[in-house]
Amino acid sequence: MSMTKNKFFVTTPIYYINDVPHIGHAYATFAADILARYHQQIEGKTFLLTGSDENSQKTVEAARKRNLPVEKYAEEMAKTWQETWRKLNIADGQFGFVRTTGKNHERFVQEVFQKIHDAGFIEQGVYKGLYCVGHEAFVKNEDLDEKGLCPDHKTKPEVLEEKNYFFKLKDFEEKLKALYEKNPDFIQPIERRNEVTSFVARGLENISISREKARWGIKVPFDESQRIYVWFDALLSYYSGSPKEFWPADVHIIGKDILRFHAVIWPAMLIAADLPLPEKIFAHGFFTINGQKISKSLGNAIDPIKISEEYGTDALRYFLFKEIPFGNDGDFSFERLKEVYNSDLANGLGNLVARVAKLCEKSKVTFKVDRPPLEFKLGETTKYALCLNDLNFQGALEEIWQRYRQLDHYLEKQKPWVIEERSKLTPVLEYAVSEISKTNRLLEPFLPETAEKIKQQFIQKNITSSTALFPRK
Ligand code: MSP
Repeated sequence: MSMTKNKFFVTTPIYYINDVPHIGHAYATFAADILARYHQQIEGKTFLLTGSDENSQKTVEAARKRNLPVEKYAEEMAKTWQETWRKLNIADGQFGFVRTTGKNHERFVQEVFQKIHDAGFIEQGVYKGLYCVGHEAFVKNEDLDEKGLCPDHKTKPEVLEEKNYFFKLKDFEEKLKALYEKNPDFIQPIERRNEVTSFVARGLENISISREKARWGIKVPFDESQRIYVWFDALLSYYSGSPKEFWPADVHIIGKDILRFHAVIWPAMLIAADLPLPEKIFAHGFFTINGQKISKSLGNAIDPIKISEEYGTDALRYFLFKEIPFGNDGDFSFERLKEVYNSDLANGLGNLVARVAKLCEKSKVTFKVDRPPLEFKLGETTKYALCLNDLNFQGALEEIWQRYRQLDHYLEKQKPWVIEERSKLTPVLEYAVSEISKTNRLLEPFLPETAEKIKQQFIQKNITSSTALFPRK
């Protein structure tokens, strides 16, 4: 991912709308938001795309359960998801929300389908086999558990035999291998890259990309009796939902469960359609809640808005990215959230800022701190920038907190609370405020609301030291 291309385009997966957002969905969206805000600082033109994946059989079933016409159900759910991102303070304007039932998307998908067909990479065939609606994918007997159920969804796959259009994925084997070879960073982290390269090395099969029996979804442009397979349609939303000047995506953030679609099928589709390839695909891990898989039946699917109402969105973001190295699996627990909140935010950053603000107020030292220049623009090799370039959010946060700890030590050593001579006190406080302000630029992408409050406190001076940034829990 180049750091100075004058544009930056990041995507999240577009989410299924059979349910409301849970914290696992917020995870990828927060990650994209951190990157978007960071690149906004250094590149200026940034676009974050998220959206709703609506042409799925899951949508039809969920609408039926709620006794609503599918269109109405989809409309309501798309609103709920959009509203969630607004409440969670995502992307501040530089934000696109694509719905796959939108006209523009439909037109784009049909055009690309036609183009790939005309290029000779789509052929007719018969599909015979098992289909898991939960995965919206064909599955094989060896993917099932001993009872013949999908191990993830605990449902029995449907048996399907129908006429379908097939994408000739096999034709792209060599091109994909060359792509992975030439761009070692195309798939990250490395374990995921290895997973994909060995999958492709075992040989690819052509894949069915249409459904004869589906009644919901985008029609194959030259065969009205067929609907386009939801994954073929969903992947294209990355381009149908974003302004062309941002193509290709600099990074697609996804969960590890949808890696093959993104790292194998998507680039093959793009090559077939002669469209630009993304720079990078980053697959994050899965997290459990108090050690358990997030699932509806366990009732542990945490609503991110609820947590952010209690702790603040910034604290939730801080916790998720400080706690779990991005790319690894991890666990979410309320106990740990509270612990980290109190130690790093209430007692750490919050206390430091309050102490310095109080000293400034009490001593009535006046000085002007301008918004400091971006330090990392000067040296793209700073550890912070390098971490963000690798989506190592934990490393970047560590860099920030290290600066706060250093400032804490400095204050402990200088003891400005006992200095009486003004000429000695002023430089100490000036240094402290300038350190907080500089570090604030690094904090902005991660904790945007907090960074704004700190800026106001020290620059506009309209927040008093008695307003705690993070009240203890
Ligand atoms: N609609 C497809 C994506 C199409 S992208 C062109 C889809 N949607 S999803 O709603 O099921 O999942 C969206 C994302 O949420 C996935 O990346 C998935 O990995 C992520 N997560 C779902 N549960 C999760 C956890 N428990 N932990 C972390 N992420 C999780 O797949």
